[in-house]
Amino acid sequence: MKIVPLHPHLGARVEGVQLQAIDDATFAQVFDAFQEYSVLVFPAQRLIDEQQMAFSERFGPLERTIRAVGKEDRLHPNLVDLSNIDPDHDERLLGWNDRRMVYQSGNQLWHTDSSFKPVPAMASLLSGREVPPAGGETEFVSMRHAWDTLPEATRRRLEGRVVVHSILYSRSTIAPDLFDPEHERELAPVRQALVRANPVNGRQAIYIGSHAWYIEGMDHAESRTLLDDLLTHTTRPECVLQHRWTPWDLVMWDNRCVLHRGRPWDAARHKRVMRRTTIAGEGPTAEPPWATRTPVWDGIIAEGVGAGHPARTTARGTAR
Ligand code: OGA
Ligand code: MN
Repeated sequence: MKIVPLHPHLGARVEGVQLQAIDDATFAQVFDAFQEYSVLVFPAQRLIDEQQMAFSERFGPLERTIRAVGKEDRLHPNLVDLSNIDPDHDERLLGWNDRRMVYQSGNQLWHTDSSFKPVPAMASLLSGREVPPAGGETEFVSMRHAWDTLPEATRRRLEGRVVVHSILYSRSTIAPDLFDPEHERELAPVRQALVRANPVNGRQAIYIGSHAWYIEGMDHAESRTLLDDLLTHTTRPECVLQHRWTPWDLVMWDNRCVLHRGRPWDAARHKRVMRRTTIAGEGPTAEPPWATRTPVWDGIIAEGVGAGHPARTTARGTAR
């Protein structure tokens, strides 16, 4: 196995392994490389869905995909089918004006997967099955490097803070009504630690991205400005690792310390078919995991969303 670093801050290409037949000793090396490099690119991995799920599961239990307009969970509950082929009319391509693609375009915002869930994703593995001739790259930045390069005074401001994350918020920045009301109820905003540490090597990272809505206990406008400034700092052009896809690349990233985004392509003309497995995290990053309603939620989170969730019931009654 050969490991070739791709960028000064993050990322390595891993050559000379076949992931469907990897022994325990080699897996341990991959595991260590993952903790170190945060993004691993494995070229030429012709995995069938079951093999991708089996390899992914060696890192931990897989997440289930949320049901959304694009029916991304239609193949298997543990597999995201990310594609611009119309699932209802085989071989017809969806352009960016289709509601399902508008939903998918949320992936073009810098984000970390499932930060809107009480247990956010540890890692994602994306297999490129069919890729467009131009565009459609995936980009990565290190939230560790971002933390390491923040002024000491800013770090002190961030330590111990909790950020409320919501996919209803992030999707509301793209278009209204991307979820149906039935489904929205399951998507209550969650609390996440703003600074996280890797459990293996202790490396700290900020934890932000498109779902990060506001910092608790801070004036709303001030917290928005701070989150926007942190995102700008994290995504400076020289910090970006861009992956240009070749069919059957498998790219794995550490959602605890990496932001990623997809880049647009000519979706009405070219297919882009990707399959993602997502490894669940180890637990909530903040306790309790569910956020409490504030007036800022009005117009974005419908009344009743998340109400009645057991974790939101306090000793004094239901949290409002
Ligand atoms: C994802 C994602 C971006 C892309 O699969 O989680 O954000 O380039 N993908 O497809
Ligand atoms: Mn993603």
